[in-house]
Amino acid sequence: MRLDKFLSDALNIPRAAAKKAVSSGRVTVNGTIIKDSGHHVEEAAVALDGQPVRYQRYCYIMLHKPAGCVCANSDRCDKTVFDLLPPEYRKKDLFVCGRLDKDTTGLVLLTNNGPLAHRLLAPKSNLFKEYLVTLRDPVTEEVVLELQRGVALKDLRCRPAYFEPLSANRGILRISEGKYHQIKRMFAALGNQVTALHRQSIHGLSLDPALPEGACRYLTNDEIISLEKKE
Ligand code: URA
Repeated sequence: MRLDKFLSDALNIPRAAAKKAVSSGRVTVNGTIIKDSGHHVEEAAVALDGQPVRYQRYCYIMLHKPAGCVCANSDRCDKTVFDLLPPEYRKKDLFVCGRLDKDTTGLVLLTNNGPLAHRLLAPKSNLFKEYLVTLRDPVTEEVVLELQRGVALKDLRCRPAYFEPLSANRGILRISEGKYHQIKRMFAALGNQVTALHRQSIHGLSLDPALPEGACRYLTNDEIISLEKKE
């Protein structure tokens, strides 16, 4: 791969900026300053201003979704999660790994790693997502047991779900599926109503508490590695 492409992909910077960094002597390959953007790099130690640059084939972004925007590529009426991304994050072929409803807030993972997303979302994957659920009515012990047994919906019997109460009508729900409006439908089937829903984590990847609503950031290397291990 060309050195300018390597830098542009790895650092998410425009190709022109990568070329400029190279021609101005800020880039080393295996310790030697290289000023030719077309220099071929393969398994090489590349550094910019002395800082190692790790090549990432794929892009992974965590977004703190606010209420009122939709998890679609485009929408005629509503703002989408993609509209919230700053231009430098708008890589081609990014998609949402596990959609949330328009009124649900919290963690949205965007990636262009199709195989990984496919495995994480596969119906047979037994990986858990955690939601903070607020309900109209208090949650009884019987309801907690019903959730654990697997709630029967019109078209599906849900897998066991685990509810940890935080107060009478709020708690953390862990589910290993992601069917359309699933949590709202589960509680509706049990005679209650979800009044607020917030996703806190996906397969052990937690929403960064420092990210305000509407903000996003790239995943850290450790977060990516831990997610890939869950495949
Ligand atoms: N379950 C729902 O009902 N809505 C969501 O946004 C996510 C899970």
